[in-house]
Amino acid sequence: MKKIIVISCIATLIVAIHACRKDDPPPPEEVLVYDPTAMTVEIPAFAKNYIGDMQHPSDNPLTEEGIALGRKLFYEKMLSDNMTVSCASCHKQENAFDDPRPFSEGTHGAFGDRNAMAIVNLGWNTRFFWDGRRNTMEEQAHDPVTNPIEMANTWPEVVNRLQNHNEYPSLFFKAFGTKTVDSNLVVKAIAQFERTLVSFNSKFDKYYYKGDSNAFTAQEKNGLVIFTGQGMCNNCHLMNTLFTDHMISNNGLDENPADQGLMKFTGLASDRGKFKVPTLRNIAESAPYMHDSRFATLEEVVNFYSSNVKQNSPNIDVHMPAFGSGLNLTTQEKADLVAFLKTLSDSEFLTNPKFSAP
Ligand code: HEC
Ligand code: HEC
Repeated sequence: MKKIIVISCIATLIVAIHACRKDDPPPPEEVLVYDPTAMTVEIPAFAKNYIGDMQHPSDNPLTEEGIALGRKLFYEKMLSDNMTVSCASCHKQENAFDDPRPFSEGTHGAFGDRNAMAIVNLGWNTRFFWDGRRNTMEEQAHDPVTNPIEMANTWPEVVNRLQNHNEYPSLFFKAFGTKTVDSNLVVKAIAQFERTLVSFNSKFDKYYYKGDSNAFTAQEKNGLVIFTGQGMCNNCHLMNTLFTDHMISNNGLDENPADQGLMKFTGLASDRGKFKVPTLRNIAESAPYMHDSRFATLEEVVNFYSSNVKQNSPNIDVHMPAFGSGLNLTTQEKADLVAFLKTLSDSEFLTNPKFSAP
């Protein structure tokens, strides 16, 4: 037995030496072709009826090659100054591309003061960040790279690293027809990948849109009635399949908001305390909650809407219950509402191998 192994090792060695002889022709260089394959993100008909097809910027159509490059870049730690942090460090697939930590840690152990946000069905959004200060996903993706408490890098350095990498220039060529890396192409590719992160296959979708009346328990059905009825949640987290009205509004968290929200960006007092209405899809996975992660559980969130709403919070939204400190739900109603919120999880989305690290 041993002998056979030794002989086969020697044979391999001879073949290997032979393969490396100097006069052998070099391996043929990969011939690069720029022929990107157009892609569309498939969404179910029921969702399309409400929200239509996803709109793409005309200068950044989705292609198979662009999405693949964007996925690689989303998980690329070279984007951060000391190569320790990628987008995915703070946006984790199993957490609906949110961060389970209240505040994300940047490259040098610095912490921001806002919770990272889920990346779910953002292709229909036109305002990004908690204060909606960016209008496209491409613009958004520019920011974390140079943010001193996130990736703390500079764009010339990122471009330099990718340009001198042994794979990236050809991947840029396949996606965009040029081997010359630049920051605009980096953010275009990342935005393409992010647009593919769609979630419309939760238990709720099965029950409500696909007609599977057995998909819900009695408690979940009751929770849905509260969500759309006395809970008034549907006023802002619209059940139009996206669970947001795309507004930046104040849901009455504080009498005296420490974070000014939209006002930080516009300077207008009438925007004080306003934050983006986030989607509730996969909400059970994207704890902690609110822009400052003040609530660790959905029970705490529901308690807030039930009995801790601050009516004199500046610019409180007209869609909030107008009297008292909230909805005044019973213990049973609160449990039912939480049970309903948990039906918005989509395990296919949370585990889809197309979205994981390449
Ligand atoms: C250190 C953690 C961290 C890193 C790294 C990071 N993010 Fe974020 N992300 C956040 C935080 C925190 C917010 C909310 C910040 C705010 O509102 O001011 C956010 C917000 C976002 C949003 C807005 C979502 C919405 O609904 O408006 C998107 C999209 C996003 N990040 C994508 C990315 C991409 C792409 C990268 C990599 C280029 C990245 N992030 C890197 C923490 C991070
Ligand atoms: C006036 C519009 C409005 C209404 C009505 C409303 N919300 Fe919200 N919701 C918001 C806004 C705005 C935020 C983000 C606030 C922040 O972080 O400062 C939010 C945040 C949340 C979050 C945390 C999301 C996250 O990613 O951190 C959950 C969960 C939630 N709402 C559930 C509900 C439920 C359940 C109801 C009904 C009882 C409800 N909301 C009613 C506007 C609303």
